Amino acid sequence: MPVLVDEVIDALALQPGETVVDGTFGAGGYTRAMLAVGAGRVIGFDRDPDAIAEGRSLVPDPRLTLVEERFSQMDRVLADRGIGPVDAIALDIGVSSMQLDRAERGFAFSADGPLDMRMDQSGPTAAEFLNKADEAEIARVLREYGEEPRARTIARAIVAARPIERTGKLAAIVRRAVGYRQGQKSDPATRTFQAIRIHLNSELEELEQGLVAAERSLRPGGRLAVVTFHSLEDRIVKRFFRERSGGTPAGSRHRPVLADPNEPTFEKVARPVSPTERELAGNPRSRSARLRSATRTSAPPRKLKGDRK
Ligand SMILES: C[S@@+](CC[C@H](N)C(=O)[O-])C[C@H]1O[C@@H](n2cnc3c(N)ncnc32)[C@H](O)[C@@H]1O
Repeated sequence: MPVLVDEVIDALALQPGETVVDGTFGAGGYTRAMLAVGAGRVIGFDRDPDAIAEGRSLVPDPRLTLVEERFSQMDRVLADRGIGPVDAIALDIGVSSMQLDRAERGFAFSADGPLDMRMDQSGPTAAEFLNKADEAEIARVLREYGEEPRARTIARAIVAARPIERTGKLAAIVRRAVGYRQGQKSDPATRTFQAIRIHLNSELEELEQGLVAAERSLRPGGRLAVVTFHSLEDRIVKRFFRERSGGTPAGSRHRPVLADPNEPTFEKVARPVSPTERELAGNPRSRSARLRSATRTSAPPRKLKGDRK
């Protein structure tokens, strides 16, 4: 069930025939909606080979091009394929229901499966990380990416229970370490699973680089809409739009505000949008979703370290 799809379509304000990037194709919910309102071409990116393999049959439309790649690479991929600056870009950050619902992918703590959690199905698995990393490193990941207040306690319990190969075992270790009563509102394993997944897939770095790639891929007047699922991600998008639209970055005693010599690359930054009560009732997973959107100006993209002078 795509989250905030009507709101994303509103924010993208597609005109008939426009070219749009769906940076997180997933099960194709956004892409289907983009095509339904008359997009001329959709380039659907996903780093998960399963999403790409199943995409064509989920959305059998000749206007769709599927690309198995991370959205942080979209500017390069679009340029390589000779696709000019695009009219709109959507990013729907996080895991798909497809990934969560398949126990063998190892994302869910509600069903037992191998501790995998790799979106692009390459690189080290969650089991390899947890069985090798030292306690301090595991605690850091839980604290930074899960905002877990009991990170040390959980990390200690994980190290003591190694090897851990199954999601069910990891969930049980976390629940035992921090105490869990049946029927408690939220499962304490949620934060640990989220943290490990974000770390393993470098999700925050991907989001930061994806926003920069979007800035480099949009035409002047092009729209960018980003849906996030928790505060760590939302903060990154909020800061990016604030900084790129010329808003004053929040300074501090340690980090004084410096004048920004760059022209704003985004404007018309919209207020954040949350799901309606109606959407929440039908799709509890959308609880913490938040949409932010803005329009690209004609200013050149910000320079990156590797750029030629
Ligand atoms: C929340 S789902 C998207 C659901 C989609 N909007 C829909 O309506 O079906 C997120 C998808 O983005 C993919 N993904 C996550 N990070 C990515 C990245 N950095 N690059 C490309 N795809 C990514 C995941 O594999 C997953 O399939």
